[in-house]
Amino acid sequence: MGTYSKVITRRSFIRKTAIGGAVFSSATRGIANAVDRRRRYVIVGTGSRCRIFQNAIEQHYREDAVLVGLCDANPGRLHRAAAKSVALGLDAPETALPDGFEKLLKRTRATHVIVTTVDSTHDEYIVRSLESGCDVVTEKPMTTTASKVMRIQEAVTRTGGNVRVTFNYRYMPARSQVKELLMAGKIGDVLSVNFQWLLNTHHGADYFRRWHGEKKYSGGLMVHKATHHFDLVNWWLGANPVSVFAVGKREFYTPAMAKRLGLKRYHERCLTCPEASSCSFRLDLKARPRLKSLYLDHEHHDGYHRDRCVFHPRIDIEDTMNVIVNYDTKATLNYTLNAFNSWEGYRIAFNGTKGRLEHANEENIYVSGTDDVQGATKRSGLKLRLIPLRGAAIDIEAREGEGGHGGGDRAMLDELFLAEPRHDPLGRASDARGGAASVLVGAAANECIRTGMPVQLDDLAPGWNRPEHLPMPNRSYPLTMP
Ligand SMILES: NC(=O)c1ccc[n+]([C@@H]2O[C@H](COP(=O)([O-])OP(=O)(O)OC[C@H]3O[C@@H](n4cnc5c(N)ncnc54)[C@H](O)[C@@H]3O)[C@@H](O)[C@H]2O)c1
Repeated sequence: MGTYSKVITRRSFIRKTAIGGAVFSSATRGIANAVDRRRRYVIVGTGSRCRIFQNAIEQHYREDAVLVGLCDANPGRLHRAAAKSVALGLDAPETALPDGFEKLLKRTRATHVIVTTVDSTHDEYIVRSLESGCDVVTEKPMTTTASKVMRIQEAVTRTGGNVRVTFNYRYMPARSQVKELLMAGKIGDVLSVNFQWLLNTHHGADYFRRWHGEKKYSGGLMVHKATHHFDLVNWWLGANPVSVFAVGKREFYTPAMAKRLGLKRYHERCLTCPEASSCSFRLDLKARPRLKSLYLDHEHHDGYHRDRCVFHPRIDIEDTMNVIVNYDTKATLNYTLNAFNSWEGYRIAFNGTKGRLEHANEENIYVSGTDDVQGATKRSGLKLRLIPLRGAAIDIEAREGEGGHGGGDRAMLDELFLAEPRHDPLGRASDARGGAASVLVGAAANECIRTGMPVQLDDLAPGWNRPEHLPMPNRSYPLTMP
């Protein structure tokens, strides 16, 4: 029997036993002896982002989901996460290091794997999970390079499994409102988009402190961060990217800038930095309890230093990027990303055949791994304005939400974890095709920054599987003279 048949056999076995039939879990206190139809999750990657999924499963969606296993390369962080379940009065999920991953899935009869590891390792766990018969929920970016995109899409086709990519940005109420306005044809069909995203020197600087600062781990900000933004545009327009041109540079987070800012030189990390008291980029792990318990207390296992110098020469990602994208609808995108700015958030304008839609959002200060709320909206900075080709502009009240990513996190978690989520008329759920569409724009931008030549996505990833979109106003729609 070949690998393919083995995979299918195990996949159908899991579905029959765990979802459709009776499985009695050791972690199902309270509903023991009842038929347990809950989805059985393993989370791989027990760093900062694990928390949102672990909390969701163990606190908000207990009736539909159960956490049966955890996996991480760092045994300290792994056991820290398992201890959180015990602190809630639940059975400890089973744990495994990376080489015991398949055995963990089998032992726990997992049906779903949530991937929250370092970006460059996502493909490894997505493919291994699919081959073990599990469906996958992966954090963005789905992966970091075009060849890994193709590897994932091949595994989806071969195994028949499902990969969900958690594009939580789509769910923020004001962004959903933008989609509704565009779908309703308020500005006709979109011919071009101007999109500017700024990261400040708190959150933005944080990408230069750890693995995100090296392309081999994160794909750079064109992939790690801009995957959210390219995905938003793909989804808002209901279009697929065709070709990309980009330029990028790093001028702020550099050894030279350390000197211009008055330091003697760059150093290795804040913990041992002789100039820490003169550096306002210092991250004091000892003073931040969550960062200390997540990273500092476990760094002896793997040498992962969460507080590396933001001016270090090991960094090879850009902090300033300009990208032009052509879409299959003939729309064009002009996008900029800047990682050392005075405020954090974005401005976007859609230029359509009937008018212009402008939207802006300013976010509060956030540092990953602390108790700050990520992507929380600053009320004064949320704007939505419709400007017809002729006539007065209309300010529209933008919908606000509470919590992570402007209220988007909770809406996405409902859809992920509820056994019967509500129908979503905006099509916000994304799969390995949507995941590919945004990663490939970033990967193409990286390639263009490297070579100076425009990149066709079909050359980068021949035969890639494109997402399907909900119908949007297009070039064949009738127009009246303005
Ligand atoms: N959607 C969002 O808004 C959002 C926000 C933050 C992070 N993320 C994504 O979540 C993922 C995790 O980010 P994070 O901030 O938690 O990072 P993190 O560094 O805090 O955690 C990563 C974890 O992966 C583990 N790991 C590394 N290599 C591994 C391997 N080969 N096998 C198993 N475990 C391994 C590390 O030990 C660590 O515990 C990333 O992909 C990131 O892009 C998404």
